[in-house]
Amino acid sequence: MCGIIGYTGHLDALTVLLRGLEQLEYRGYDSAGIAMLSGEGEDRLLIKKAGPVATLKDACEELEVRSHCGIGHTRWATHGGVNDTNAHPHIAGKVTLIHNGIIENYHNLIEKFGFRGSLVSETDTEVAARLLDYYYHGDPYEAIRKTIREITGSYAFCIMFEDIHDKIFCVRNVSPMVAAHMEDGSFVASDVTALIPYTKRYFVIPEYQIVTLAGDSVSVQDLKGDPVTPEMLEVNWNVEAAQKNGFPHFMLKEIHEQPEALRNTIMPRLENGLPDFSEDGIPDAVFSGCDKIAIVACGTAMYAGMVGKALIEPILKIPVSVNIASEFRYESPLVDEKTLVLVISQSGETIDTLAALRLSKECGAKVLSVVNVKGSTIARESDHVFYTHAGPEIAVASTKAYMVQLASLYLIGCRMSMARGKFTEAQARDFISRLTSSISAVQKILDNKKRIKEAAAVVAKAQDAFFVGRGLDYAFSLEGALKLKEISYIHAEAYAAGELKHGTIALIEEKTPVIALATQDHIYGKTISNIREVRARGAFVILITKTGAEIPEDICDIHFAVPVPHDRFTVFPVAVILQLLAYYTSDLKGLNVDKPRNLAKSVTVE
Ligand code: G6P
Repeated sequence: MCGIIGYTGHLDALTVLLRGLEQLEYRGYDSAGIAMLSGEGEDRLLIKKAGPVATLKDACEELEVRSHCGIGHTRWATHGGVNDTNAHPHIAGKVTLIHNGIIENYHNLIEKFGFRGSLVSETDTEVAARLLDYYYHGDPYEAIRKTIREITGSYAFCIMFEDIHDKIFCVRNVSPMVAAHMEDGSFVASDVTALIPYTKRYFVIPEYQIVTLAGDSVSVQDLKGDPVTPEMLEVNWNVEAAQKNGFPHFMLKEIHEQPEALRNTIMPRLENGLPDFSEDGIPDAVFSGCDKIAIVACGTAMYAGMVGKALIEPILKIPVSVNIASEFRYESPLVDEKTLVLVISQSGETIDTLAALRLSKECGAKVLSVVNVKGSTIARESDHVFYTHAGPEIAVASTKAYMVQLASLYLIGCRMSMARGKFTEAQARDFISRLTSSISAVQKILDNKKRIKEAAAVVAKAQDAFFVGRGLDYAFSLEGALKLKEISYIHAEAYAAGELKHGTIALIEEKTPVIALATQDHIYGKTISNIREVRARGAFVILITKTGAEIPEDICDIHFAVPVPHDRFTVFPVAVILQLLAYYTSDLKGLNVDKPRNLAKSVTVE
């Protein structure tokens, strides 16, 4: 949700900024812009363009000015349409500013400070720039302090002052921002992917503290002006992990990285064939001391939670709820000291999920988060963190992060079942051995993906598609439908197979694709009956079962079998089939697979 990059040092700022924006473009691609200070006595340089970073890059081609200090922004529009004027950076008097977040009281600020009539753009950000300029009389810290005292909302600001030629000032509340210093200079960015070509050591900018980037140092001070030493972190992946490495799209690459991501997430947590979270510092008391579980997340992470519920609840026999974070936070949730809140987030920055976490803690609940990004806000604010090890996920549509979120929920479910006396050691060992064997099932689907492309050729022609299943299969189908609609723009809905006839079946026409999941033995016959109902109305049925399932004659047009013998574990290969089906459909339609319209990877606005 908007990408921010800033650099000052001896390198060419334009090169650093454009490279950084390319890395951050998955955060938003409505417009992009850069501003650079070009040296004493000269003007600031500002270039901003609606459209992707490539458009900005073209506009910078002829630039002759060289600078060593600048800021860049890639936008996911919230306030104000997509055009050059609303693109960041924004300039007001001596101030040049980029912003990620939302200034909630910008209307009041316009009135209070009399800015009406003099603003150029429709953005909330320009108001912050105006306010900073209003307060700026040569002391950047005083201006920043006074400005943030007036502002409510979320923000990560990078600020340059016209008369301070080689420095960038940063401050944030909620919206993420990291910084680093090395021999080449000082960097700030929305996330660490943009810093990786230069360094692996970085720090998360603490909230409400002011960071000063100079060519030879990065310093942090609190709002009283006292120096602060930030905690340094180190990334455990390298620059290749954030590149396509020969794949046409990040999404396809990330789908193929799933066996490795699963191994990295599961294996280090096994001790003698059993789950062991001592390295994560998660004691069994977290699992035994609760009487219910509330899973909270958004998007794909929430759908991973749906699978978690369908898996865990029948084993533990305690209530497990799955909550949409943006609803949970405003609905007086039933959460107390005896609730374990399981927060799931790839980025660890989704604002609604973070707000739900904070509310849960206020209610006295213990929070265990499943997070992919080290040091992210959700990770830092949780009582315990279970890191998934997917590495960087660049494609907007989540694939490998979902896969490892599932694996984490399976591990957590297993450990919790042991801690609560629902699994004997032998049962837990058997569960884990089935979980680890699922990794080779995932690999087998990847090795035989050609037929999925053939199925996608049919789906690509459709306007609507339906995903149906019962029980765990229904939980899997939710993510399948989301994947398809977000990257192919085909209207897709997931339905509990038995529910379809209560209305939605009216939408089934000749050749409407129905992706039917029937991997659960105890309800196999029921699901097959539901498939017959859509088949009778002309649906084009793509059926997914376990290997060896008895397939009734003429029940489907295309059949995929997943090589997993136990019902509980079919989600791992099934997810790959559904991801590839969505991927090929989008690619066959010639769409931008990695950057679907209107979406952003990290949603830091409500
Ligand atoms: C956005 C992304 C989704 C993601 C969701 C939650 O909508 O496009 O892929 O599932 O946010 O993000 P999180 O980082 O909290 O998992």
